[in-house]
Amino acid sequence: MITALDKDRIRLRDQARELAQGPIRARAAEVDRTEQYPWDHVDAMKDAGFLGMTIPKAYGGQSKDWLDAVLVIEEMAKTCSIAGRIAVETNMGAVSAIMAYGSEEQRKLAADMVLSGDKPAICITEPDAGSDASGMTTRADKRGNRYVLNGKKHWITGGGVSRLHLIFAKIFDEQGNFEGVGGFLAIRDETQGLEIVKREPTMGLRGIPEAEVAFNDMELPPSALIMPPRGLKKGFADLMTAYNSQRVGAGTVALGIMEGAYELALDWTEEREQFGRPINEFQGVQWRLADMSIRIAAAQALIYKAAESGKGGFPDKIMAAQAKIYTSENAIQVVNEALQLFGARGYSRNLPLERMARDVRMFTIGGGTAEVLRNVVASGLLGKKLPQTRDGYMPKMQAAE
Ligand code: FAD
Ligand code: COA
Repeated sequence: MITALDKDRIRLRDQARELAQGPIRARAAEVDRTEQYPWDHVDAMKDAGFLGMTIPKAYGGQSKDWLDAVLVIEEMAKTCSIAGRIAVETNMGAVSAIMAYGSEEQRKLAADMVLSGDKPAICITEPDAGSDASGMTTRADKRGNRYVLNGKKHWITGGGVSRLHLIFAKIFDEQGNFEGVGGFLAIRDETQGLEIVKREPTMGLRGIPEAEVAFNDMELPPSALIMPPRGLKKGFADLMTAYNSQRVGAGTVALGIMEGAYELALDWTEEREQFGRPINEFQGVQWRLADMSIRIAAAQALIYKAAESGKGGFPDKIMAAQAKIYTSENAIQVVNEALQLFGARGYSRNLPLERMARDVRMFTIGGGTAEVLRNVVASGLLGKKLPQTRDGYMPKMQAAE
């Protein structure tokens, strides 16, 4: 059961809506066309208090709930997916992991950076380890009072604009024994060996770079390691627990995009006349609009419910996965339907529908594919671990042990 939005939340949503429908909307097409990271959007969201809302008050944030962040992300994404994603990544994912598991010093650092406009990058995926994130080969070797990191990540959102990086790596002790997966903090331009290799030419979401990031003998002090609460052996599980927040956030961007497209279609079908009447007087169009609204209502309910499941902690992994699967898949459908309702105009770059169609396509992929998230849901429902690897297969690094 979803809690009805109280007065404070309605005020927050309306404030976000005003910003999104004003300056954010005005620049959305240009951000896509120029493929430039929208620092003006960052400043506007910072001034409105939308960056780092979930950071505890003790570190300068507002101690807001996931649902508060969701309301802001949803409004931003209705007009600009990039603004939505910036709101996700300054409130969820990496920053939330640091706030939950980081040392006092790490929390202060991350809070200061995010509240002053940095969108942290989360570095998990590698060329040979995407869905199979546990198969990562980036390694951190303990050498005296340092960790030495080597490896390569790709499709890192914000690579080249983000300064703070949260890097997932396999940790080995001085003797070369595997200890578990940890998260390291490194600041671009202040850390030797952290290199932004190249930017991907993406289909959509062009206002944020997706980059390959390499670590070449990158030395970090032990204070750069985020020590998860249950120790290194459970480090990966704890980091993924924090990552559930980002899955809810990604689903929310998809939700916002489909709502934005639907709202455009609703207005257009009233305005556009064919055969002497508004096209929304044809039953074929009415049923299409009705189906779109049902998909949106269901997606929104799942997202809000998943966000609320994380009150005081992190969103439930099954609810986060369910919400992201449903929303990302239905968002593609709804945007496609909206585009169809515009006829030829929908196919034009003069309207936002084609941009929305490119942007929305991402969300069944990034942040855990819809297929892999179905595995997460199924293993939770069945209460069984569902090994995906072939018998006898060992991830490269353990095999070498
Ligand atoms: P693969 O794992 O190679 O999957 C290929 C296909 O096989 C998919 O359809 C997949 O569902 C299917 N498949 C794989 N395993 C199974 C299975 N067990 N059962 C059923 N089907 C399976 N990563 C980061 O670390 N940080 C980021 O900031 C980041 N941002 C991203 C932004 C964008 C725009 C995109 C597109 C990706 C981003 N990623 C990021 C990477 C993203 O998380 C991965 O793309 C995703 O986890 C899938 O990995 P992959 O691309 O290697 O696909
Ligand atoms: N929330 C909480 N815990 C999680 C989790 C999540 N979303 N995903 C995995 N875990 C925990 C598991 O419960 C397990 O804990 P346990 O050791 O206490 O049993 C541990 O992490 C390992 O998970 P498991 O599913 O056994 O690992 P696997 O080696 O088969 O890996 C994943 C599967 C986790 C990599 C895969 O499900 C996945 O999420 N892939 C997508 C990666 C992704 O989202 N990348 C986005 C980059 S931005």
